[in-house]
Amino acid sequence: MGVREIKPRIYSVALMDWDRRLFDGLIPLPNGTSYNSYLIKGSQRNVLIDTVDLSKGQEFIDILKKQGINRIDYVIANHAEQDHSGALSLVLEVYPNAKVITNSKCQDMLMNLLLIPESKFFTVKDEGTISLGDKTLEFILTPWVHWPETMLTYLKEDKILFTCDLFGSHLATSYLWVSDETKAYQSAKRYYAEIMMPFRKSIKKHLERIEGLDIEIIAPSHGPIYNKPRFILDAYKDWVSDEVRSEVVISYISMHGSTEKMVKYLVDALITRGFIVKPFNLTQTDVGELAMALVDASTIIIASPTVLVGPHPLVFYITYLVNALKPKLKFASIIGSYGWGGKMAEQIIGLLNNLKLEIIEPVIVRGYPKGEDLKALDRLADEIQNKHGG
Ligand code: FEO
Repeated sequence: MGVREIKPRIYSVALMDWDRRLFDGLIPLPNGTSYNSYLIKGSQRNVLIDTVDLSKGQEFIDILKKQGINRIDYVIANHAEQDHSGALSLVLEVYPNAKVITNSKCQDMLMNLLLIPESKFFTVKDEGTISLGDKTLEFILTPWVHWPETMLTYLKEDKILFTCDLFGSHLATSYLWVSDETKAYQSAKRYYAEIMMPFRKSIKKHLERIEGLDIEIIAPSHGPIYNKPRFILDAYKDWVSDEVRSEVVISYISMHGSTEKMVKYLVDALITRGFIVKPFNLTQTDVGELAMALVDASTIIIASPTVLVGPHPLVFYITYLVNALKPKLKFASIIGSYGWGGKMAEQIIGLLNNLKLEIIEPVIVRGYPKGEDLKALDRLADEIQNKHGG
């Protein structure tokens, strides 16, 4: 994509990964992603804020060289993960006088992950600053905005907050700025759900501090830049709040139709009672979509047949993932079927130990659901409604 000016002498150097379809071997990327580095030319010093994934390292260097950048004084590392730090060793090779500026935790991680020698680093503390001559960078330590070492960099004179993963989106686009807020909202929400949701409480705390800054631009290291920062700050405020909506997520799988019949019945019963219901058939679910649905939902129903004596393995996998993502769910229940026995519901409940959930009496039926079984599902729908005070 090359170099694009955000403000005088401040540039985006964003490398698009249009075709990437999987991140961390886990997260689907329907819209690819981007690795955004930023170049600031101060009156005395040039600085890069974060680098890019190693797969784009040479392209990154070629762009800088083509731009005539023969001197980099500092590289700010806001985060040690390799999609931003991957090209750091290469940058230090090409610009041997550059110092890496970061916090001590991030330094330790970069030395460990990339084998960068200690002599290359200059560490900063929370609220530490460096001068580029006519521009000043302030560092804001925000641990657990993905990893324990994450920090933000604030360019005071230009009121730009460089947030690395925070407020990012996996979205490869030729637009430098957010142009379509609906699409940007969906992409940022998906990113929040997949990457940030487990750190909801830390982010909530850090947001209060960010609100105190005078910000004109939020420049993340994935996806387009926000020139209306209120848009993304308000979205995050909503996502990290303790408020839930009357939404029920149902993750299910069926082998011979019994569990599917129960799911369909319960979906209708909940819709009739005024709930928004989001069923996900795990044989074809994009886990990013499921994660997004969990951002606002109050309730999850996990529906599984019994395989041998436990849940279907896909249900096991998804339940493990839901537990790891730590959504702000309040209620859960289990429905499903069995042929001759087992402890499917107990095993699923045991997998949800990260979440502070109230478990509503499961409905587990033998074989195909019959009249009494369907009545039990009606009672479950009533109970969910009662819990919501509806
Ligand atoms: Fe985009 Fe946590 O790396």
